[in-house]
This record gives sequence, C-alpha cells and structure tokens, in this order.
Amino acid sequence: MIDYQAILDSIAIGCSSLKERGNIASYIPELRKVDGSKFGIHLVDAKKSNFQAGDANELFSIQSISKVLTLAQAMGMVGEKLWQRVGVEPSGDPFNHLSLLEMENGVPRNPLINAGAIVVADILVTHLTNPKTDFLAFVRELANDETIEFDQEVAASEQRTGFRNYAAANLLKSYGNLKNDVDTVLDFYFHQCALKMSCKQLTKAFYFLMNRGECQQGRSYLTLRQVKRVNSIMLTCGFYDEAGEFAFEVGLPGKSGVGGGIVALLPDKYCVAVWSPGLNEKGNSKLGMEALEKLTTATGQSIF
Ligand code: DON
Repeated sequence: MIDYQAILDSIAIGCSSLKERGNIASYIPELRKVDGSKFGIHLVDAKKSNFQAGDANELFSIQSISKVLTLAQAMGMVGEKLWQRVGVEPSGDPFNHLSLLEMENGVPRNPLINAGAIVVADILVTHLTNPKTDFLAFVRELANDETIEFDQEVAASEQRTGFRNYAAANLLKSYGNLKNDVDTVLDFYFHQCALKMSCKQLTKAFYFLMNRGECQQGRSYLTLRQVKRVNSIMLTCGFYDEAGEFAFEVGLPGKSGVGGGIVALLPDKYCVAVWSPGLNEKGNSKLGMEALEKLTTATGQSIF
C-alpha cells in the first residue's frame, strides 16, 4: 500500500522552503494579485480516498486547465466531427503563438493551445442554449459542487488585455473556422479560463478522466475511446512546448494553467491537482511540475 498522505506531506514541506518559485503571470493584470508563497496539492485515488497538503482548499484561477473540460463537453456533444476543425498534434510552440495557424490554413494544431480552445469554445457557443451558464453547470455537476463560480474580475481583466486571443479569433474567423462572433466566443473563452477552483475541486472534476469516463457520482460522460483521446491529447499537448519535458519528468497526462495549477492523472489509479502560482519560462507552474515529478518518483507510479 502506498502512503499517499506521507508522500504529499513530504512534497509540501520540501516545496515550502524553496526560494526559486518562478514568476506569477502578469499579462492578465488581475492574476498579479495572487500570493506567490501559496502551495497546495490534493490527490484522490480510484477508491475515492482523499489526501491533501498545504493550500489544497484555496480557490485559484484555473485558466487553461478549463480547456480540457470544454473539450470533454464538446466531444460529448458533437463527437468525431470536432476533429474536422482542430488537429491532435503537439505544436511545439507556446500556448499563444499564431504563426502555425496561418501556415496551416486556420486549423489549430490541437485543442489545448489558445487557438484550438477558441474553436472548441465556438462549438460550445453554437450547441449550448446558455453557453456560460450551461458550461458552469457541467463543471459543477462533474465536481458535484454547486459553489464553483467564474471570477468576473479575472474574466474582465483578460477581456481588456487579451489582444493575442482577439488576433487568434479574428484569424480563425478569416479562415471560416469560427462560426459565431469573435466577441461572443471570446466572452465565453475568457469566462471558462476565469473559473476559480481549488485543488480538491479540480481532482473531483477530473476524476471521470481517470475513471473511464465515469464521475464520482457514477454518471458516465465520455466513452472509453473518448477518454483515451482526451488523455492522450493532455499527454502530448497539455504543456505546450514543454509537453516533452513534463512526460519525461512526470510521466502522466496533465494540463497546466497560467494561474499556477496543474491537474494530472494515472488512469484507474489517481487524479492529482497541484497549485503554486509561480511559473517557469514556458508558463507552467514551476513548483507544480517539481512536486509531480516527486510524486511519480516516490510512488513509482506513472503511465510508463
Ligand atoms: O488565453 C490565455 O492566455 C489564458 N486565459 C490562458 C492561458 C494559459 O493558462 C496557458 N497555460 N499554461
């Protein structure tokens, strides 16, 4: 039996003394206000036992982690048709780069870079009756938690400053790969990124991807084949131009966000979320990556 609690405690103690904690994202002004000394980690295993250390119940901006949840909701709604509008290859580029989008005629490399997530947002805006409310309800249902909310200040902050996302959306529109208005789609996208959740809530919401498509309440959201696809895209694309490094160091499918969160999972075994706001130069949580490397090394459990 692996003592997850002892391992998380030792990771949290080790991380608390580290001085090199990376840099807090500043390109979304509202994110600058976060306390860089925070660190939380939460793990839920396949038997629904919970383990945590540090600030695991504190809310933070999940940012790009939300792209996996919108992808899951869109796949559940439109199925394989989704792949006509977005690819499944790693980009090897930072999350907000646009050059490939132009070279590849407006079809984003994958759904986890910003341009790809904006196409997925467009699909949800088309198919949901009340897109923001319905997506929020989907996340609340997955996590079995009605308290989850959007952070309106963070959404408004990105709405004012998200020039690269406006550029991406306009480029997509020029190629005919955005069906709705740029402003409507980006309003949805900025809100999905502005969800505030804790490490504990994130592991509950992502549990279904660890558990063959079935959430903690026993409801099924995706087929086994779809779960395989979402998890493989997380492995190859979840960390942008650092996806190779994350697979190399941690060895799990996962997704990061510029709020400093990372969710990762080992199918049929556990789902883990970690939060430390300081980012490395690739925009992924510096201590979060280190903590997950320690977890898979200490437990000897990774997909490899
Ligand atoms: O669109 C953006 O730039 C942000 N809302 C999300 C970027 C992000 O989290 C990248 N992940 N590491």
